[in-house]
Amino acid sequence: MMIEVNQDPAATQKVDWLILLIPSAEQPPSLLKELDESLDGKLERIWQRKDFTGKHGDTVSLLQTEKVAAVNVMLTGVGDLTKLTPEQLRRSLMTAVRSISTSADQRVAVAFDSSLQDAVASSELIELAADCCSLAAVDAGVHKRHPSRYAFSRFQIVLPSVPDDAAQRTAAGRALGEAVATVRNLVNRSAGDLTPERFVEEAMALAESHGLEVNVLRQEELSAEKMDALLAVAKGSDLPPALVELAWKGQPESSDVLGLVGKGVTFDSGGLSIKPSDSMIPMKSDMAGAATAMATVGAAAALKLQVNVTAWLGLVENMISGRCFRPGDVISSRRGLTIEVQNTDAEGRLVLADALAYAADHGATELIDLATLTGACVVALGEDITGVFAGCDDLAQQLKDASDQTGELTWPMPMHDHFDVFLKSEVADCRNVGPRWGGAITAACFLRKFVDDTPWIHLDIAGPSWADSATGWRDSGGTGAMVRTLIQLLRDRS
Ligand code: BES
Ligand code: MN
Ligand code: ZN
Repeated sequence: MMIEVNQDPAATQKVDWLILLIPSAEQPPSLLKELDESLDGKLERIWQRKDFTGKHGDTVSLLQTEKVAAVNVMLTGVGDLTKLTPEQLRRSLMTAVRSISTSADQRVAVAFDSSLQDAVASSELIELAADCCSLAAVDAGVHKRHPSRYAFSRFQIVLPSVPDDAAQRTAAGRALGEAVATVRNLVNRSAGDLTPERFVEEAMALAESHGLEVNVLRQEELSAEKMDALLAVAKGSDLPPALVELAWKGQPESSDVLGLVGKGVTFDSGGLSIKPSDSMIPMKSDMAGAATAMATVGAAAALKLQVNVTAWLGLVENMISGRCFRPGDVISSRRGLTIEVQNTDAEGRLVLADALAYAADHGATELIDLATLTGACVVALGEDITGVFAGCDDLAQQLKDASDQTGELTWPMPMHDHFDVFLKSEVADCRNVGPRWGGAITAACFLRKFVDDTPWIHLDIAGPSWADSATGWRDSGGTGAMVRTLIQLLRDRS
């Protein structure tokens, strides 16, 4: 899709749809007045009748507006300017572009009321618009025979003056939108389609297109590397596991490497500790952490960030068969700790235990793991908030600063030492589950046993990575949560 920034008046934009982003206000906003010169006062009358007031999320479409160059005009409310957040603005524009993307080959322009331009820098508006239009056609229907949404044929960003960094910010917005799209599309694919091996193929394709170094460890290498905990989870599946290493080296003179370790369980049946059937349905999304790590590294490359960041993706399927691991089994791990498996559904922490250890052994000087790890975290924080477990306060603060900028919701979770008592085993060095209460915390304390001294934080994205139902601004299914925040953290360092 072609994305351009231009300074022509809104009324002369020759497109199928002209989107006008309008805050709520007492008097008709200046952009509406400007366009009214070609619309015989229609917009003013709409405003006076309160049929459109700029309320957040409201859209009003004017079809076949003969005297402006655009065929159709869409008024889109962004709400109260004094309470405007980047996420609110994003949702307004996403609602507009998503409603247009249901038709093919649309040429679209977006113009901003002058009050909005006073509140938000032009460069930010460009990045936001490029980001949103790159996501407009992404929906949950990845297996439909015919798509229900279409990318625009071209997209114009209308501003009175074009800032010097317009081209960079357009590219940045596109990279952000594409990273989120990558995660959503991977999460939405069925588990029968997106197997560990297909995930490896996706990682190799991303490495090829983005200039990343890629290294894949399969069954035999994983055994040689003593990754017995990860392998135990994979045992029950006919699909072989893999560990993928994807590296962007944007700061070759430095030996610092931020490791993003992703839980990539392509399907989580629970194993012999089988899930109830309703809980199993969304478990194709149990690889969201791996998808997030992968897309973030891709974006770092697309943005040419001056950082070293490597994703380690632990890809397995948790299934049942005559070969699967059992409750009561004692398994080993890369760190040598033996683990009594009390629940085969607590598999993510087993995969991460070995992947974290491997990452630390292969150059990661800081670690962030991303995982749809526990239902307990969703109980604690709800479906929209990422739980942040701070093994390192400094790294947690950087993540908080990044999420404050993107508007993604995060919240600190505790890791008190007494939880370690719950992980004691009579027969092995530890066990993989604790008692019922505080399950998100015991899971994090389990991971902590495997990270040694490397600064580390754990992000439980079980809630926000998946949406049960659609809203105006995004579809149901995979959300791509935390990709923007991780990219922001890297940009803050670059
Ligand atoms: N993948 C699940 C966690 C999950 C639950 C993600 C709901 C998204 C939505 C994880 O592997 C799991 O099954 N965790 C168990 C842990 C328990 C057995 C200690 C859980 O949360 O019930
Ligand atoms: Mn599980
Ligand atoms: Zn799982």
